[in-house]
Amino acid sequence: PVQPVQVAVAAAALAGKSAKDAGKLRAAYAAVDRHVKDKQVIGIGSGSTIVFAVDRLAERVREENLTVQCVPTSFQAIQLIRQHNLPLSDLSATPKIDVAIDGADEMTPDLACIKGGGGCLVQEKIVAYNSDTFVLIADGSKESDALGTKWTRGVPIEVIPMAYVPIQKQLEGMGATAKLRMATSKAGPCVTDNGNFIIDAHFGALQGDSLAPAALEKTLCMIPGVVDCGLFVGMAKEAFIGREDGTVMHYT
Ligand code: 5RP
Repeated sequence: PVQPVQVAVAAAALAGKSAKDAGKLRAAYAAVDRHVKDKQVIGIGSGSTIVFAVDRLAERVREENLTVQCVPTSFQAIQLIRQHNLPLSDLSATPKIDVAIDGADEMTPDLACIKGGGGCLVQEKIVAYNSDTFVLIADGSKESDALGTKWTRGVPIEVIPMAYVPIQKQLEGMGATAKLRMATSKAGPCVTDNGNFIIDAHFGALQGDSLAPAALEKTLCMIPGVVDCGLFVGMAKEAFIGREDGTVMHYT
């Protein structure tokens, strides 16, 4: 089911924001306001939308004097937590996460999604898996009827560096366009927080028996050298999507 929800956001927070960023902000605030409670362990995702969630979380912690622990999903998340003076934890100290909040690159109404546009999918999936409630936040451009139709950069797959060529060839044999992700400088491959490479494999629309997201996730993760892939199926319990018209849709 999907229905609109009300989110209270101060006008100052929205000042100067594009409609897309305002959508990200509203979705982030909706998730933090509905899910964060005192004494919780909170998984902090990665990307641009989570920045708004951490802003709101820090505001609520300050104003309501909340005690929370934050478990990061990336180096970016560690920095965000530190910059906001929030308590930084990890899965060794707090292995059970109450709620994890994270962005998505594309999401279908059944709450399956593609993640990893920022290259953080492995730690994001570990944190999501170990949380009681995993909540997605995104702007309206991420809503889709079939994964692979809007996010056409491909399913991000984190691989052990020595295996990237055979994995790339295997993906091509499966009909995908499989590209080694390069660093922004183009001087070399993009190296993840875990020291691995990313292959972006575009299969077209993820539909049909072998390409259905759940089946494809299993197939990809069985390839030796694949650490994990950016298909998150059956993990998210809810999503908040901030559309450009100012509405926030709540998927459950
Ligand atoms: C990083 C991710 C991000 O959550 C995803 O790319 C969405 O990012 P943004 O909030 O910038 O749209 O999976 O690995």
